[in-house]
Amino acid sequence: MADETVHDNAGGEVTMRLWRGDPSGGEFADYVMPSVEGEVVLDVIHRVQATEAPDLACRWNCKAGKCGSCSAEINGRPSLMCMTRMDTLPPGETVTVAPMRSFPILRDLVTDVSYNYEVAKRIPPFSPRDKTADEREAGGYRMQQIDVERSQEFRKCIECFLCQDVCHVIRDHEENKTAYAGPRFFARSAELEMHPLDTNDRRELLQQEQGLGKCNITKCCTEVCPEHIKITDNAIIPLKERVVDASYDPVAWLGRKIRKRRKLTPAEAAASSPAAGPPAVQPPLAVEGIPQPVSADDAPR
Ligand code: SF4
Ligand code: SF4
Ligand code: FES
Repeated sequence: MADETVHDNAGGEVTMRLWRGDPSGGEFADYVMPSVEGEVVLDVIHRVQATEAPDLACRWNCKAGKCGSCSAEINGRPSLMCMTRMDTLPPGETVTVAPMRSFPILRDLVTDVSYNYEVAKRIPPFSPRDKTADEREAGGYRMQQIDVERSQEFRKCIECFLCQDVCHVIRDHEENKTAYAGPRFFARSAELEMHPLDTNDRRELLQQEQGLGKCNITKCCTEVCPEHIKITDNAIIPLKERVVDASYDPVAWLGRKIRKRRKLTPAEAAASSPAAGPPAVQPPLAVEGIPQPVSADDAPR
């Protein structure tokens, strides 16, 4: 976890070590800036742009932790630049800001996150069952509060993709991207699978084509989520249990039959997705100059 101790950093100077480059390569450049009380990392980046490097590329929109645009690696930890206060970083030390390492570089701190949008297209959409006669008479299905709360947790996601960035299954293995959805999309599938009215059955797809079995529940994704979504405990582990139920538990199998859940083949699931797009984006090899991945064992927890 980041050190959340607040330090008085006003009045001095801070060295910002920012990665500059493009897909052909690059390197870190240092910018010494005055320290200003109350700033977040994104504020200092903006001052660097205004005074030292007008061509520095960084992506941001809301500056309020809600658009998910300003994701980067601050001192090696996947974080939102707009939500990382300068006075929580070690005083007197250089602040290193690098682009997310799991995605291809566009320029400087900006990465191409379209891999995630391709994965999103492959998740079978919400498909509600027909209302019963009683429900029609009552004006509709009455959802239980527990079901509302379960999906609300996952709907807090701002699609910053920090969880995708930190997940060692793709961070350390580009080749896995074609067959791995990643934590953000396991949470999306869990949200849909846990909806009491949904009739799609995504378990075979999750297991066979979206790599649920590759997740070894290290919880790194949960640790970096700015919305504090318990991705591992509340989405991934329940999904893994459902996949096991589907294969080995006859009672659960019978329950699904009675509830008329329809199991989609991977091909059916792909066809029912909102947009069956091209194969997942294959990013180029890691750009030289970007800090190399720590091993799975050393990844931020
Ligand atoms: S628990 Fe670990 S392996 Fe599983 S999705 Fe999260 S970061 Fe990846
Ligand atoms: S689950 Fe959390 S870390 Fe992952 S994309 Fe959503 S908000 Fe970001
Ligand atoms: S600028 Fe929107 S989350 Fe940081």
